Amino acid sequence: MAEDAKLIVDNKSFDYPVLSGSVGPEVVDIRKLYGQTGMFTYDPGFTSTASCESALTYIDGDEGVLLHRGYPIGQLAEHSNFMEVCYLLLNGELPSQLELGNFSYTISRHTMLHEQLMSFYKGFRRDAHPMAIMCGVVGALSAFYHDSTDIADPLHRRISSHRLIAKMPTIAAAAYKYALGQPFMYPDNSLSYTGNFMRMTFGVPAEPYEVHPVVEKALDRIFILHADHEQNASTSTVRLAGSSGANPFACIAAGIACLWGPAHGGANEAALNMLREIGTPERIPHYIERAKDKNDPFRLMGFGHRVYKNYDPRAAVMQKTVREVFAALKVTDPVFETALRLEELALSDPYFIEKKLFPNVDFYSGIILSAIGFPTTMFTALFALARTVGWVAQWNEMISDPHQKIGRPRQLYTGPAERDYVPLGQR
Ligand code: CMC
Repeated sequence: MAEDAKLIVDNKSFDYPVLSGSVGPEVVDIRKLYGQTGMFTYDPGFTSTASCESALTYIDGDEGVLLHRGYPIGQLAEHSNFMEVCYLLLNGELPSQLELGNFSYTISRHTMLHEQLMSFYKGFRRDAHPMAIMCGVVGALSAFYHDSTDIADPLHRRISSHRLIAKMPTIAAAAYKYALGQPFMYPDNSLSYTGNFMRMTFGVPAEPYEVHPVVEKALDRIFILHADHEQNASTSTVRLAGSSGANPFACIAAGIACLWGPAHGGANEAALNMLREIGTPERIPHYIERAKDKNDPFRLMGFGHRVYKNYDPRAAVMQKTVREVFAALKVTDPVFETALRLEELALSDPYFIEKKLFPNVDFYSGIILSAIGFPTTMFTALFALARTVGWVAQWNEMISDPHQKIGRPRQLYTGPAERDYVPLGQR
């Protein structure tokens, strides 16, 4: 461990302990800084700030490493399944066969929604964005499941976590059905978590629905790739909302709202829209020039990451999955060629090399989801569905920490100093 960090202010020296995690950068513990010096630190965007301790997920952005509870994302995507990853994130260890069976059974028993909650959907316009519906309906869960909102009770916390993981597919699929004007599909608990979601989305009550095993596997893998990602914006939102003692359903609704933005989960929708707008490979250079132009707000969507400065390991798995899904469904999409060429051209361009901008998880995911049949507006809702386990695992970790405090950042105030109120007639 490094020696204490020294800070010298007005010729006075202050020592701050350096703390080590199991892997990754050490951190300077500045909790006493304000009390000792009367100063705050300034780090908008948290580019150098660890906001909490966590044992869930580790990212090494320079090496392109992502571990959940120590297990590399590539291994989980290849060999595991989403239910198992949910168990791992929530409980810290991979389950035994019996534990996995019990967990999957429990989740499947929470898939239905209170019938009255279904009538909420009718209050939305038919053209409402699914994320608008998700924010509302997930927040409304707290009005229906009062028996799992006592955050001080570990059993309540466990039940609400299971409910959220189980109900998200039902909520997301109903948002899709509502836009189409088709009847809502009730869950079928004989199917896998992902197979059930596919049936609720693409099935109709009038005929049986057959789950395509390759598509089911691909979608399950997409869920694994989105399950958790350390202290990203939406997870930090969930933690901050939860730090006040808000109930878990309200906290996850806050996370969904944050995820919606195009710089975060909304990027998968924006990336596919961008690729379709580019259209053909000949038009790529024009868009690359636009992305480099400081006077043009255009960015390559699905490119760049706050933490990954080498490659997003999730993007590599996504790219492989595109090919698998195309082969299984015997489809192709010219947009994939455009995406591959865009990646190639961007990665050989000095602007993108210098700034270490690489495709992220959202660059290829939209191409797969579109091939499976999801409209672009559903992409971020699928991200929310999969990220729910990460949100609830992080929320649980925070609430069970005995040192947990309300999150309350400070600021560098730049407004007017104190001044006297001027009556209306004298202004
Ligand atoms: N296209 C063109 N230039 C870019 C891009 C991009 N996609 N991303 C970053 N840059 C430039 C940016 O203009 C800046 O240049 P300069 O230093 O000259 O001002 C530099 O790279 C650093 O960018 P930043 O915005 O300061 O970096 P950040 O860490 O704050 O932002 C990001 C990370 C992901 C928000 C950003 O790269 C971005 O907007 N990417 C496009 C949206 C996207 O794909 N988001 C999904 C992220 S992964 C999944 C998720 O988090 O949900």
